[in-house]
Amino acid sequence: MSFPTTLESTAQALLASGKGLLAADESFPTIEKRFKVFDISSTEENRRGYREMLFTTPGLSEFISGVILFDETIRQKIGGASIPEALARQGIIPGIKVDQGTMALPGFADEKITQGLDGLRERLIEYRELGARFTKWRAVITIGGHIPSRTCIEANANALALFAALSQEAGLVPIVEPEVLMNGEHPIACCEEVTTVTLKSVFGALVEHRVVLEQILLKTGMILSGAECPQQADVAVMAETTRRCLRRAVPAAVPGIVFLSGGQSDEVATQRLNAICRAGDVPWKLSFSFGRALQAPALKIWKGSRENVMAAQAALHHRAQCNSSAIQGKYSAMMERATLV
Ligand code: 13P
Repeated sequence: MSFPTTLESTAQALLASGKGLLAADESFPTIEKRFKVFDISSTEENRRGYREMLFTTPGLSEFISGVILFDETIRQKIGGASIPEALARQGIIPGIKVDQGTMALPGFADEKITQGLDGLRERLIEYRELGARFTKWRAVITIGGHIPSRTCIEANANALALFAALSQEAGLVPIVEPEVLMNGEHPIACCEEVTTVTLKSVFGALVEHRVVLEQILLKTGMILSGAECPQQADVAVMAETTRRCLRRAVPAAVPGIVFLSGGQSDEVATQRLNAICRAGDVPWKLSFSFGRALQAPALKIWKGSRENVMAAQAALHHRAQCNSSAIQGKYSAMMERATLV
């Protein structure tokens, strides 16, 4: 199938009604960690087989508009076809994670800067030739005693802006992802404040770098109480705080915001997504770009074995369908029970 030709229309296709993104761009250390839980060894063939299981799920394109791949995966094959071709045949847009992970920010204890700008211009040209139509770069902001620092936020915002400008130059829609981690004992107000400051810094840098806001997607976390905070905000407060934070910090020119799951359990992520999306009253399209919250049940069933493929695919299909309902504000816990029968 042929894909939209402009960056605006690609961004809109990724935001197609009732559809979201599957993040399957785990780096070597991350996929090894996910596999290890089920005693699956992280060999090239196991990684390929796992991604093949995910991407050949019957009916996936009903709910999934795009898949974020990792460098190794975009070069692998399913049957005779390259993985980007296999996705494109189903009408799913292939994308690629182009950052090269984080390193310690020198001079700033416990803070990180994302790497991968060196040689990026050339890598983007290659990725486009391999079939990618969009890119992703993840910055990590940690909340703690005296962090994040202004320096960490600004250094990451500048790297995100340079990544986005280079992506647009190469004809690729950048997904700009400043992730504020949910770990910590902080209250929800602290997550809101840090996310607001971070997003304002990111959008300031994007404008400075002449990034066309109509041609990006923002990927962000929901505004949550810290995972170890004893006082957890309820779902209605979480949803309103998330919408308020985004309304204050994200220009209306941005076509869409996609949420990461960030370590929330799959059903909780879906329930919260539904609460955020149900109210409407925001100028952008809202959707999901989940990794763990889409894949976790499928990985648990698959366990590296061919005979589990169909059941694992059914689990992925179900999560994708639940999240599709959530972005339309139509999810209910009944959808989970229906599958247990
Ligand atoms: P999670 O949904 O598992 O947080 O992954 C999304 C992602 O792509 C993080 O960069």
